[in-house]
Amino acid sequence: MEIKKATFVKSCTKLDDAPKGKPEYAFIGRSNVGKSSLINMLVERNSLAKTSSKPGKTQLINYFDINEQWHIVDLPGYGYAKTSKKNRELFSEMIKDYLFNSENLMTVFILIDSRIPPQESDLDFIYNMGANEVPLVLVYTKIDKISKNKVNGTVAALKRKLSENWEELPQIILSSSVSGVGRKQILDYIQETNKLYIY
Ligand code: GTP
Ligand code: MG
Repeated sequence: MEIKKATFVKSCTKLDDAPKGKPEYAFIGRSNVGKSSLINMLVERNSLAKTSSKPGKTQLINYFDINEQWHIVDLPGYGYAKTSKKNRELFSEMIKDYLFNSENLMTVFILIDSRIPPQESDLDFIYNMGANEVPLVLVYTKIDKISKNKVNGTVAALKRKLSENWEELPQIILSSSVSGVGRKQILDYIQETNKLYIY
């Protein structure tokens, strides 16, 4: 898929304010995993989504319009420890409300850092989405930072873990926002899934 146009639409804190009428794809994962960077890599714009080396950069539900046909949704990270407990709860309520109630959400891409073993917060989140029948794809990020062997080991460990509970495993995509690996796979997936959207 060619990205002809990518524009920021708006930031919201609740679903009522969200733009409607187009299929949307959300990106979620622990703080600093590389959600905003992956979005910029997909649309080939350096700073459409704001990134930072400090965790906790994205704090709202941010909508981007792609080719005037579909939306990308950049979400705040989960498991960010440095904000207050009250703030964390507000965040997770906002994210949950969005993920469980958005009418246009086609798939949530759950991002996982390829450099570390599966974290409890990641597994909790994956199981929670699965249990609520939210369509999901798992995306390993930052694979430019580790060896192929190590990535394969980490993916195998996650698959083993998920197989304890699930018969069918979700699609897993390896990515790097630095090298562009994974871009085509993600965009092909979105192109195919867009065909299922009922206007
Ligand atoms: P929050 O909005 O804070 O939840 O973070 P985020 O998940 O949006 O992460 P962000 O895209 O802001 O990236 C966090 C840091 O990781 C930045 O310093 C990025 O440059 C770096 N980063 C993200 N993706 C990659 C990648 O694929 N490779 C490498 N080497 N660095 C990356
Ligand atoms: Mg971000």
